[in-house]
Amino acid sequence: MKRNITKENVLEILIENSTRYISGEEIAEKLYITRSAVWKSIKSLREDGKNIEAISNRGYRLIDVNVGLSSKGIKNLLPESLRNLDINCLETVTSTNDLANEWGRDNFGKEKIIIAEEQTNGRGRRGRDFYSPKETGLYMSLCIFPQTSVEKATLITCLAAVAICNALSEVAGIDAKIKWVNDIFYKDKKIAGILTEGVTSIEDGGLSYMVVGIGINLYDPIKGFPEEIKKTAGSIFTTGRTVEDVRNKIAAAIIKNFYVLYEGDWKEIVQKYKELSFLIGKTIVVNPINRKDSSKEYVYAKAIDIDEDCHLIIEHENGKIETLSTGEVSVAKY
Ligand code: BTN
Repeated sequence: MKRNITKENVLEILIENSTRYISGEEIAEKLYITRSAVWKSIKSLREDGKNIEAISNRGYRLIDVNVGLSSKGIKNLLPESLRNLDINCLETVTSTNDLANEWGRDNFGKEKIIIAEEQTNGRGRRGRDFYSPKETGLYMSLCIFPQTSVEKATLITCLAAVAICNALSEVAGIDAKIKWVNDIFYKDKKIAGILTEGVTSIEDGGLSYMVVGIGINLYDPIKGFPEEIKKTAGSIFTTGRTVEDVRNKIAAAIIKNFYVLYEGDWKEIVQKYKELSFLIGKTIVVNPINRKDSSKEYVYAKAIDIDEDCHLIIEHENGKIETLSTGEVSVAKY
């Protein structure tokens, strides 16, 4: 995907100066480009939907500061130690996970973060779609090269879930919870999901790379949620979009929390995951896809604990204890 760096830079200057009018001449001087290049960028930004006011003798001003995602904007919010991360912010992509997978295949050992404004083929777990419209969500994938066993790598999904909850608490002040395995809930609605994909090496069975894809609904989509997820999907901010767009802040907070946890201790991650559990103590319905036997029945059980591998421990109605290593459960509604 070809990026228009000049346009991104012009936008950044407009964002930084959104409280005043800035002349085309000043923008041109700052970027060492011609005034005609500034004008072309402004025109293209307007075509992208940016509301840029122009007043003769005064200059340009970005009206609705719906700050676009930008790697510079994100890096400015990261601690010094993480500023050299390779972060790429794109407009419309099929799926950030697809791009991160391509990257991982061709660039062993080089971590990369891909973020998009919109996905046309956003993917969720179990082959589902992840609705990824423009302006109201955050869609990002981290391509990492963990020096760990495949078993331990599965804990990275749990790590990402904790990182998202911490970030949302820091930036938006909300108390999001984790619904095992990797859905993030707020006010009983799913506001975020994680799709982790990994490729193992045929030679040693170790991990070649891993992609951690994170999708968050920040605001209700402009056209509303699609029919099939209308009842279960929610967003963080229910009041209309604010002047200050928080996507860069949330992206930076997730990245920061992810790396802090990634350098840390697995036991602590599992402990935090447990504390943030949306399920423990609740009666749940276990989807038969979890079952090792051939039973096709949905069964009721109580979620009682999360073990050290982030597996869910449940107690059946007959008192039998079972450990689920993967699968899908939902909170029972009576
Ligand atoms: C789920 O809820 O089942 C997981 C959803 C994961 C969605 C994210 S959005 C960024 C990344 N790219 C994708 O295509 N999927 C993940």
